[in-house]
Amino acid sequence: MITINEKTFALSTRETTLLLRVNEIGKVVCDHYGRRLEHDDLALAAVPDGVTTGRTIVYDEKQSEKLALPSIHGEYSTPFKGDDYSPSLEIVSDKGRLYDFVFVSALSRPLEKMEGYPTPHGEAEELILLCRDEKMGAELELHYAVFEDCDVIGKFVLVRNVGEKPFTLRRVYSSQFCLEDQGYVLHASYGSWAGEFQRAETPIGHFRYELGSDSGSSSDQHNPFFMVRRDDASLRTGAVYGFNLIYSGSHRIVVEKDAFGLIRIQQGISPRGLEKTLAPGDTFLTPMAVLTYTHNGLNGISKHMHAFVNDHVIPTRFARVPRPIAFNNWEGTYMKFNEAKLHSLAKKAKDLGCELFVLDDGWFGHRDADNSSLGDWDVYKKKLPHGIEGISKYVRKLGLKFGLWFEPEMASPDSHLLEQHPDWVIQDGIHEPSLGRHQLVLDLTKKEVRDYLFDALSNHLSTGCIDFVKWDYNRTICDIPNSGSFLHDYILGLYDLVGRLTKAFPDVLFENCASGGARNDLGMFSYFPQGWVSDDTDSFERAKMQLEMSFGYPQSVMSNHVSAKTNHQMLRKTGFGTKFDVAAIGVLGYEMDISELDSIEEKAIKSQIEFYKKHRETLQFGIYRILDTFEHGHGRLIVEVADANKALVTYVNYVQTPHPGNETLPMAGLDPEATYAYSVRPEYHSLKTFGSLINQVSPVHIKEEGVLVNVLSRFRGLDAEGLKGEAKGCTLNAGALQIGRQWAGTGYDDSTRILLDFGARIYVFEKK
Ligand code: GLA
Repeated sequence: MITINEKTFALSTRETTLLLRVNEIGKVVCDHYGRRLEHDDLALAAVPDGVTTGRTIVYDEKQSEKLALPSIHGEYSTPFKGDDYSPSLEIVSDKGRLYDFVFVSALSRPLEKMEGYPTPHGEAEELILLCRDEKMGAELELHYAVFEDCDVIGKFVLVRNVGEKPFTLRRVYSSQFCLEDQGYVLHASYGSWAGEFQRAETPIGHFRYELGSDSGSSSDQHNPFFMVRRDDASLRTGAVYGFNLIYSGSHRIVVEKDAFGLIRIQQGISPRGLEKTLAPGDTFLTPMAVLTYTHNGLNGISKHMHAFVNDHVIPTRFARVPRPIAFNNWEGTYMKFNEAKLHSLAKKAKDLGCELFVLDDGWFGHRDADNSSLGDWDVYKKKLPHGIEGISKYVRKLGLKFGLWFEPEMASPDSHLLEQHPDWVIQDGIHEPSLGRHQLVLDLTKKEVRDYLFDALSNHLSTGCIDFVKWDYNRTICDIPNSGSFLHDYILGLYDLVGRLTKAFPDVLFENCASGGARNDLGMFSYFPQGWVSDDTDSFERAKMQLEMSFGYPQSVMSNHVSAKTNHQMLRKTGFGTKFDVAAIGVLGYEMDISELDSIEEKAIKSQIEFYKKHRETLQFGIYRILDTFEHGHGRLIVEVADANKALVTYVNYVQTPHPGNETLPMAGLDPEATYAYSVRPEYHSLKTFGSLINQVSPVHIKEEGVLVNVLSRFRGLDAEGLKGEAKGCTLNAGALQIGRQWAGTGYDDSTRILLDFGARIYVFEKK
């Protein structure tokens, strides 16, 4: 709800209020952003004018003797009028560099489509505060979108040249937000290929922190999602602010604390990716920044952000639509496959219970390795003599959906496309463009390139035999041409292309991928309902990444696959049960050579898939709660996903310890009055797990790693610990459920949990 009262503006959601005011010198300031305020008490929240001390510049002594720009809670700062902290907007022109905007008028309306950008859908009100620098011929509109149902505020700005000469934007952030320090911690993520979403935390000191990406995409270096939390906030309690940006290109996050403890937080397009000249009459619109606040700790942030993404960002056609269980051939075959191999994998995938067969890289041009054919999107006849239609028909006849991998934005130097159109790649025309994964990036700012790609993909999609597209993007952008806004224009070109394609083929489910998770952001999720989290499919590494990502993104966008027992990225060996228990918190898939499974593994995977189908709604759309986490590199990670009727808990072990204690599950949020049936998902141990210890119970001698154990273990396993019972929600919420000790060499019985290093379990709580 937006309430305008002269020069005060209250933007309220269910649990929060953002209170804005125009102060005596015409600047828009933020008096409060936090818990919801009673409307009768709004005046109380007005922040007193800042004091000028020592050398501070007084903005205008005639209007106010003490008002100085750096000390106000300004909603949008510009430089050279006494505010020397990080500016949100920098403009240069022949006239000068001092642009000083003051409030003119306000209006509210339903949120309108943001030209060129993905705009969140669903109900939202918009407040627009128009500010102007009459002398410089420039206008600034501060836009606020209120998503009441999920406690989210969207912020973006529009700059307009209302003068007679052009001016150039050097920096134009989407949002600035000022906060008085009460002991805050910056919680963001850093990462790289195969190691996305690593936690980065620091108490906010008297510094300027600048993070983000200058690589042309939102990146795995620093995702645009981050949080600022009170240092006493925990998973379940305490004040936390959450931030994101609906943008897929280079971006910047700035957090700066001044000597007085005023923290300024800015989000927007990276200035290095944007220098834009506006002719008279031109406007520039920024992407939308997303802000939320909770006093319910980090879990409260994920609750708000998940609802926002599921209900306002994901295309409506796929919002809250259950996602299929995929089989993907990548880690099973890489590019070494033929039709017969794919047929046998598809048959086995169907037999196991999968619902979608995805043919990954290597099906086009003459692609046998990653150094050729990108750009030539016609089928590689040697591998697939019956074309895409042939393999798709085969797969669909089995009762599976069919998906295909593309990397549309790229071209290989060894391709017909670049032979014909060498000028279509990004290059500065002076230097030889550098390769990344042996490939170049196509210039999506060119309409003819976008049209070619639209046609190339449409040719396949319009046959109607493709249900799913995995859209990859496997390098960063360099060698940009001489245009200050090239990186930004590229992203607008990308949005134009994916917007056209998803509109033309609304029933095709797209999966977002960028060498794993290098472009998992709200911009891409506005078109593509799910994203590949990381090329690292090791369950322990993924558990950490999924946890970090889950604060800002729901499980429905996180695509996770169970892969080979010896993981290809880490060479870490983990059982399929553990891999499933982690991958199941999200959109499940399998990615390995399933024709090599032994009968016991096959049986186990079938039962995993049955389990997943039974609980899919909760696993993909349930509320995510973190109950416990890895601390100081040891311990356990416990997460719960829940809806009104059930909760599923994944427990991930770190390394084994020789002195395990009794353990309970610290449940949260179960209905205290209801009775729940609880159980652990049945698991088995391979005979090989026990090495030569097996001889203590075996009637015949079994040699460790010998032929006998290898043969036997293909057919027999030992049941893992069981757990079954009933209890009241309040009892379980009190953390009373004992789940048994872990193995510690001796004292084994049927409640002993043998998890091994990095092992996992899923527990189920169903309301009676
Ligand atoms: C990227 C993706 C992988 C796979 C390969 C194919 O690395 O992240 O999942 O599709 O490309 O080349």
